Amino acid sequence: MDKLIITGGTALDGEIRVSGAKNAALPVLAAALLTDEPVTVCNLPHLKDITTMLELLGCLGVESIVDETMNVEVRAGGIRRLKAPYDLVRTMRASILVLGPLVARNGYAEVALPGGCGIGSRPVDLHLRGLAAMGADVEVEGGYIKVRTASRLKGARLFLDTVTVTGTENLMMAATLAEGETLIENAAREPEVVDLAECLIRMGADIEGHGTGTVRIRGKERLGGCTHAVLSDRIEASTYLVAAAATRGRIRLKEVEPALLEQVLAKLREAGAQISCGPDWIELDMQGERPRAVNLKTAPYPGMATDVQAQFTALNAVASGTGIITETIFENRFMHVLEMTRMGACIDVSGSSAVVKGVESLKAAPVMATDLRASASLVIAGLVAKGDTLIDRIYHIDRGYECIEEKLRQLGACIHRVPG
Ligand code: UD1
Repeated sequence: MDKLIITGGTALDGEIRVSGAKNAALPVLAAALLTDEPVTVCNLPHLKDITTMLELLGCLGVESIVDETMNVEVRAGGIRRLKAPYDLVRTMRASILVLGPLVARNGYAEVALPGGCGIGSRPVDLHLRGLAAMGADVEVEGGYIKVRTASRLKGARLFLDTVTVTGTENLMMAATLAEGETLIENAAREPEVVDLAECLIRMGADIEGHGTGTVRIRGKERLGGCTHAVLSDRIEASTYLVAAAATRGRIRLKEVEPALLEQVLAKLREAGAQISCGPDWIELDMQGERPRAVNLKTAPYPGMATDVQAQFTALNAVASGTGIITETIFENRFMHVLEMTRMGACIDVSGSSAVVKGVESLKAAPVMATDLRASASLVIAGLVAKGDTLIDRIYHIDRGYECIEEKLRQLGACIHRVPG
């Protein structure tokens, strides 16, 4: 297993490009299952999760052709198999995104139950209830979700009692080929949901209200191909901004959409960062100052993303003052705290809150990455710690951060990978 070694203590300083968003790219790739015409996806990040999704599509019989600029043409003309096997699903929960499109176009799908994972139980009941309300038979047998419909799915009024991102995406995709109109209420408003809706509209879908809590979809008999460039990764961008702030450094991000990061930029200003933005760039400068601790509570978009919670915990760990971080989306998403404590951080977890009392500096220690964003927070902790931090199990990082060592080195960090 590869490891990362980070020699901390350098203030980040430099410019990097933000990659395409993993969480937008995954549903867009799954959407290609809705048509037999080619869908070309551009600005795909080069990540393990993307390879896993392409592998999953491949095992369903979908052809993918990658060109020299890393654009991928996906052709789902000859779907041979309607089963997402456990081996792939267990490495990537987002595999559930093939369920809606397969059932809508082929009338049947089997997807292994994703089960629990590092950050809580994460059920998929709302995906299944939505498909059942659209007329599908849903059963769970032998660890597989089996969904069948004898005729076209029927449009329905779906109320999601919890805001779910992939749930909204799955049901929106399914509804594009259903008979009649579907209304998804309490839908997720995340920019990645909007990006998927825009791709589906390019494929010929009739969708309104994406980006609001009520999405209306009028089903079509068929969809066609399109070319779609996925939006930039606001979570990757946030991670580098927080890293620069924690190290008292400076950073310029290019190919980013500042409007998608408003909450994060406001928090970083509160922490003492000077920030300026242009149409597709963001600059942050701490002017060598130590950040101030911030209070933060995660919430569905447009609230503070749970996917940046761990990174802000790392920032607070070395900030002046005390900050309270409250996680409202996932249970058990404080695994990074134990590892940071081993580096000298002063953090008390009580229920869904972590009270972080900033210390002057952290001390390097061997630590273990436990999930994707927890790993990012340990990288930030390593960047500010004195000495060499060894981070184990970094396959979690490779799932979601494109060329993390190259990008951090471009910013002046001392980081290298030890193949394991
Ligand atoms: C997506 C993101 C992930 C992010 C999360 C929350 C992708 C590929 N992943 O995950 O990075 O952390 O949104 O912003 O886009 N829930 C149910 N029943 C369901 C579905 C969800 O109770 O059927 C609950 C979950 O347990 C959780 C909450 O809803 O408490 C939000 O989860 P959800 O938005 O579904 O997360 P994902 O879509 O899996």
